[in-house]
Amino acid sequence: MERLQKVIANSGYCSRRCAEQLISDGKVIVNGEVVSELGFKVKDKDEILIDGVNLKKEDKEYYLLYKPRGVVSTAKDEKNRKTVVDIIKTNKRIYPVGRLDYDTTGIILITNDGELTNLLTHPKNKIDKTYIAKLKGIIDVKSIKELSNGVVIDGYKTAKSRVKLRKVDKKNNTSIVEITIHEGKNHQVKKMFEAVGHEVLKLKRESFAFLYLGDLKPGEYRKLKIKEVKQLYGLFK
Ligand code: URA
Repeated sequence: MERLQKVIANSGYCSRRCAEQLISDGKVIVNGEVVSELGFKVKDKDEILIDGVNLKKEDKEYYLLYKPRGVVSTAKDEKNRKTVVDIIKTNKRIYPVGRLDYDTTGIILITNDGELTNLLTHPKNKIDKTYIAKLKGIIDVKSIKELSNGVVIDGYKTAKSRVKLRKVDKKNNTSIVEITIHEGKNHQVKKMFEAVGHEVLKLKRESFAFLYLGDLKPGEYRKLKIKEVKQLYGLFK
């Protein structure tokens, strides 16, 4: 027996949040009866209809996209801006695993596998994400230490992170810093650097868990290999 919203999300129909909304809106029918209760549990053999259509288990698809700047990382944007999902050619209902800001570039996974999405985004699972930030100003050793130990953003102390200085450009008064975090608070990297007095001028996510961009250019994507999907699931064994 599993919760109805989890079964819908895991089927790839849409995200857990969207599944909860569908249930609350009375759009989900289980064995002929409308179910609007969120905790409702269903069995494997139960028939689930959404908007009158049978919830069939979709084939799973997994993409690794080099998100370009100027694209939102949601499945749908209320302002009708281009989304990361618009870039991928598929007829499946896919959605991004976590988020990158509109102006952030770099690696983002996109899938219709709700179960894997939940595992990869759950804070307790501490998936490493490495970012390269171009900062205004020359960062000093003290700030790098502070960032590594955790800084306070929005009244919350960030966990320890790995921080490396890659380059300083004295002429242009900028620094390039690599930072690896396993949390995913809103605008976390930008806020962390702001907490030590540096504005982030550019931000790129270079890796997500063991996955890298490789030869992809901004706007390009590839399917994950079966081996990589298995390896991602393997992180939670
Ligand atoms: N941290 C940010 O500030 N922005 C991102 O897009 C990702 C992490």
